[in-house]
Amino acid sequence: MYLSAYQLQRFRCDGFIVLPGVFSPDEVSTLRAETERLIEEPSPGLVLEADGVAARSLNGPHLISPLMAGLMRSTKLLPVAEQILHEPVYLHQYKINMKRAFVGDQWEWHSDFWFWQAEDGMRAPHAITAAIFLDDVNDFNGPTLFVPGSHESVLRDEHHRTLEQATAPGEEWRTTTARDLKYSLERSHLSREIDANGMVAAKGQAGSVLVFHCNVLHASSANASPWDRRTIFISYNRVSNALSDVASPRPEFLASRRFDALRSEDGQWPTDVTAAPADVEVAA
Ligand code: SIN
Ligand code: MN
Repeated sequence: MYLSAYQLQRFRCDGFIVLPGVFSPDEVSTLRAETERLIEEPSPGLVLEADGVAARSLNGPHLISPLMAGLMRSTKLLPVAEQILHEPVYLHQYKINMKRAFVGDQWEWHSDFWFWQAEDGMRAPHAITAAIFLDDVNDFNGPTLFVPGSHESVLRDEHHRTLEQATAPGEEWRTTTARDLKYSLERSHLSREIDANGMVAAKGQAGSVLVFHCNVLHASSANASPWDRRTIFISYNRVSNALSDVASPRPEFLASRRFDALRSEDGQWPTDVTAAPADVEVAA
């Protein structure tokens, strides 16, 4: 599957796009069932919400599930990443955010690239994320919010470190995926960006795929609704933009250092589609 010329233009302009109907209801149920199975298993990449009970994120599901590993090579996702990035790509990060009914907590405003540069040694913003909706995403269950066009802004000192959170040795990575993130964005910068460009909530039915640029500003609120908002986030980076060495690399389940180009698994799960999905449906 590839984006149409119009979809590609929207992505380049806004820094994100929602593609409805990419995965079928059967495929979504398979992914949901696998997700629920995986979060019941002990896993080093599992992060809980502040209540210490509900799962917040599962990082690195591809390392423990062949089904999830197959998904990142899907012909519904990988060709889109190659099309946008113009080059062979490898998997940089893979996570599932559970955003459970009533308890799923916020994600503060940030640019992913800021974290990937500072924490992982990514040199340039040549990466994108494909987010697969496992539930309908609506006004109430914490849709990801974007500032259209903000992927073009060069961030210098606009993120600053506000938190020195206590973590156990070897667990420092948790401060980059918690409710209060390690780097927070200057509110004055955010206000300027939003006043100039507005804000859009990326909503859609289960089976939709949201594709976003690694530098676009985004956030999401807590889930105040009785509906889960489970989403799989698969981030691809250009092979030529592979990570440089850093003093304390984050674990493989959070920032992959396997830089081999991914290849599509044609004809394997999930089933191939030849038609591009209908054009953008992003509600403001
Ligand atoms: C993220 O920015 O990594 C997650 C955003 C979300 O789950 O809405
Ligand atoms: Mn993010």
